Amino acid sequence: MVTLSPTRAVRRARIASLATYVPPKLLTNADLEHMVDTTNEWILQRTGIRQRHIVEPGVGTSDLAKEAALVAIERAGLTPADIDLIIVGTTTPDTLFPSTACRLQAKIGATRAWGFDLGAACSGFVYGVSTATGLVASGAVNHALVIGADVMSSIIDYTDRATCVIFGDGAGAAVISASPDDQIGILDFENYVDGTGGDALQMPAGGSLMRTTAETVAQGLHYVKQDGQTVFKFAVRNTEEAARRLLERNHLTAADVDLFVSHQANRRIITSAAEKLGIPPEKVVINIEDYGNTTAGTIPLALDDAVKDGRLKHGDLVVLASVGAGFTVGSVLMRWGTVQN
Ligand code: UT7
Repeated sequence: MVTLSPTRAVRRARIASLATYVPPKLLTNADLEHMVDTTNEWILQRTGIRQRHIVEPGVGTSDLAKEAALVAIERAGLTPADIDLIIVGTTTPDTLFPSTACRLQAKIGATRAWGFDLGAACSGFVYGVSTATGLVASGAVNHALVIGADVMSSIIDYTDRATCVIFGDGAGAAVISASPDDQIGILDFENYVDGTGGDALQMPAGGSLMRTTAETVAQGLHYVKQDGQTVFKFAVRNTEEAARRLLERNHLTAADVDLFVSHQANRRIITSAAEKLGIPPEKVVINIEDYGNTTAGTIPLALDDAVKDGRLKHGDLVVLASVGAGFTVGSVLMRWGTVQN
């Protein structure tokens, strides 16, 4: 059993509740066969994805986040007014400003909360949990609402087969609060970035560097551009690296891990990283088949499925791991407590 390190926490923080939301509309591999030059077989074999959920136009990230947030708050036995802090991990904010956290605060009536958006792409939820853990552990905040949510369909070029088959829309929300049991909760995290890989996965236009013009729009520079193989190799290596460092630092081995919950970008990335770590398939959560890559949404969606399936039980040692555009890398170690979901 990992013990509380006094240098890292004043009080233990934990995920007190969890909830997720995906929009009802499905985009299947069969649908994509009619849109671009691809096949169901190629997509399933190369990515493990069968379908994704996507929003109707006019639905923003805060709308998905709201659905998940209200349920998570209720499951934690709280009301929106009890929330002190809102962190929204997202790559697809409703608007560049105001932040999606502010829009969400108004939509759910979290009247006492401060908050901000966290730009870490697919690591948004892991970085959000890490940040909230520090603030809850220090006593600065009692209840933090951490969201991982993205409407990737708003920035995908549905004529580009290399990217449009991968991504979907979805949201997860977790309430992070002080744990009543010192042995249960978030034990440690290992986060780092490698900004030299920034060009491998990006949306080139629409920021301050490349302003929005008629030309940038005509050239499709407001869509996701990805060097898939570079991202793939980095993701396998660093999903494993971050998780391994975290385990070693806590004097644990793969055999101690009850459940490995990785970012769902590609089935082959998850299985390769788990294999390198020495974590057997039965301890690895993979639900990419049903949702695709929902960017900051994948880890809460995977955690939620594991709780619903009964795979995640009180006292289990869980490792979360993510790699995202930036590159951002993150890994969280936690001892799972029974949460409502
Ligand atoms: O959340 C983090 C973000 N993203 C990731 O983690 C993604 C990481 N990368 C990947 O998951 C994979 O690299 C992809 C799924 C994007 C691509 O798979 P791949 O096995 O690396 O394919 P590839 O890019 O090496 O392309 C192999 C072939 C190419 O054809 P040629 O040049 O061999 O004739 C591609 O044009 O597959 C072709 N191809 C497709 N064929 C059918 C690429 N996309 C498709 C497609 N359908 N959708």
